[in-house]
Amino acid sequence: MPNPIPLGVFGYPAGHILSPVLHNGAAEALGVDYHYLAYEVRPEQIGEAVRGAQSMGFRGLTITIPHKVAVTEFVDEMSEDARLMGAVNTLVFEEDGRIVGHNTDGIGWLRFVEETTGEYPKGKRCLVLGAGGAARAIAVKIAQCGAEHLEIRNRTAEKAAELARFVEESIPGAKASGGGLENLQEAAAGCGLVVNTTSQGMWGDAEREAASPIPEDAIPESAICSDAVYIPPDTAFLKAAERRGAKTVRGTGWLVYQGAASWKLWTGTDMPTDLVMQKLLDALDKRIKGED
Ligand code: ATR
Repeated sequence: MPNPIPLGVFGYPAGHILSPVLHNGAAEALGVDYHYLAYEVRPEQIGEAVRGAQSMGFRGLTITIPHKVAVTEFVDEMSEDARLMGAVNTLVFEEDGRIVGHNTDGIGWLRFVEETTGEYPKGKRCLVLGAGGAARAIAVKIAQCGAEHLEIRNRTAEKAAELARFVEESIPGAKASGGGLENLQEAAAGCGLVVNTTSQGMWGDAEREAASPIPEDAIPESAICSDAVYIPPDTAFLKAAERRGAKTVRGTGWLVYQGAASWKLWTGTDMPTDLVMQKLLDALDKRIKGED
């Protein structure tokens, strides 16, 4: 019997990576012969590892922390999103030998928001909290959708201002501004979409897990609130948003939908997202209980 077609993820460290749950879950459900593994690749070896995977017949790779920016040097082509986001989270090894870098973080997020809420950032005032890699992907996507205005707020104010300038310069018609975490009440007023991309709310540290990146009374009642944090699935921010009556969009959905977009690039098939989501929630539950 021929071996399954290899897929995988390169990260460092790699022990905590959950994407094998998504992709092997999809392969099993669809009855297709792909096998996906996590590989720990040292930063100085990312180029060699990518070329090695290509020689070994990999169809594609997920690229995660800390390689998303460094790997851009080892691709032959970048998709428009990868170029704007300055980072690659998916590689496709094309049959003609080209290595193409994609970034599915923005499109995965957007599809999940649309599917969960039936709404789109177009015409909305939007607030993004944080200014790291995840914020850049979301900020670019929000601006591409034609948001009325994008406000970026971050603990390090200068990084937010820099990202806002980048968005205005790179996306025709975009209006963005950035600053620190002061006066979030004012920044959020009138916003139809609030996205957390900071690590506030993340499991693993009790104080951080209990923290919301924005005070509850600053969350607009009619906003869509989306969290990049996926462990725990219901974060302090999303719980606060729910109490305010806002629509909530979980980070677990974002994780599954960016994976689904990568899966489609590799296999041409649609990931069965409901089933894969359940597998992810089971894996997260085990992790929180210390069973994995
Ligand atoms: P990612 O690629 O996932 O976005 P990152 O680049 O490390 O990860 O970004 C983490 C974000 O969380 C940053 O915006 C960071 O703020 P700084 O730029 O000031 O470091 C934000 N962050 C981390 N800890 C935070 C905290 N305790 N309070 C507020 N923001 C925090």
